[in-house]
Amino acid sequence: MKKIAVLTSGGDAPGMNAVIRAVVRTGCENGLEVYGVERGYSGLINGDFIPMNLRSVSDIINRGGTILYSARCPEFRTEEGMQKAIQTCKEFGIEGVVVIGGDGSFRGARDLSERGIPCVGIPGTIDNDIACCDYTIGYDTCLNTIMELVDRIRDTTESHDRCSVIEVMGRHAGYLALNSGIACGATAILIPEVPVDIQKHVIERMQRTMKADKKHFIILAAEGACVDVQQLAKEIEAKTGVESRATILGHTQRGGYPTAKDRIKATQMGYYAVKKLLMNDIGNRVVACQKEKILDYDIFEALQMTKSIDKELYEIAHEVSI
Ligand code: ADP
Ligand code: F6P
Repeated sequence: MKKIAVLTSGGDAPGMNAVIRAVVRTGCENGLEVYGVERGYSGLINGDFIPMNLRSVSDIINRGGTILYSARCPEFRTEEGMQKAIQTCKEFGIEGVVVIGGDGSFRGARDLSERGIPCVGIPGTIDNDIACCDYTIGYDTCLNTIMELVDRIRDTTESHDRCSVIEVMGRHAGYLALNSGIACGATAILIPEVPVDIQKHVIERMQRTMKADKKHFIILAAEGACVDVQQLAKEIEAKTGVESRATILGHTQRGGYPTAKDRIKATQMGYYAVKKLLMNDIGNRVVACQKEKILDYDIFEALQMTKSIDKELYEIAHEVSI
């Protein structure tokens, strides 16, 4: 392959810029022509291609978000939209596309691959919900951001002997909630992977810890657990007598400069996608990270894989938060 493109799609994640930088630099250094596509699959449809060079990606390794912008593009999910994207790639002579995003974006990459445009997916999502990876780019930064934000909430929660119910992101997955819950010593953690039982998991746990003299409480709920945190705070106050407040951390979690881990893994994955795969004419793959090692999977197989949360970690979290 001599001409490749790179795009970011779905929810942005800190570290996406570091991937773009690695893809562009590895490509340029090895004699490839590299295009950046703006706003994910929308840019592929509309021909929003920017020629990239070594200096186009200077000073971005430290920046959150994505310099190529991101988008969710319903049009791309139609056969007509897909055909337009393929046509644009052909017009620009694009022989391979690096897609940085989550599993929705990978489904799009799979469909493009099936129709003759070889793609390589790189997992970029704060949710950490890509089955073939134990880690996705952006997850580490987001986890650390949540920890910092919850620590701040803890200061005021403690000062008032209150309970804080905090919602964190994770559309269908509880990785962020579970791990930030452990890191922040939450009394209860509500995640979509474990059926939510407010009486058992929240009220009774709080009552038990109150008997052990606990006076302030952090309850963490994953967005995907579908709990109304305002409502839950009221219920807690009514049933335990502890004054309660709810906070939805929202998009504060998704921005900010990436951690060292996200920058390093992003660089390794971007390099791998170009040097090990596209430059050897290998497409239709997903770059993965497992136990710190970078490897790749067939994109069809990757999308059929499943992963579950670490149940032992869930048990540990609750046993030590008494
Ligand atoms: P993420 O990649 O973070 O999971 P989305 O699920 O929003 O984010 O997907 C991003 C984009 O990928 C969508 O806007 C759409 O253009 C494309 N996409 C998602 N699902 C599919 C699918 N099943 N088939 C084709 N394209 C898809
Ligand atoms: O997939 C990443 C994510 O941040 C999810 O955790 C969240 O549910 C969703 O994106 C939010 O999307 P939007 O930015 O469109 O509100």
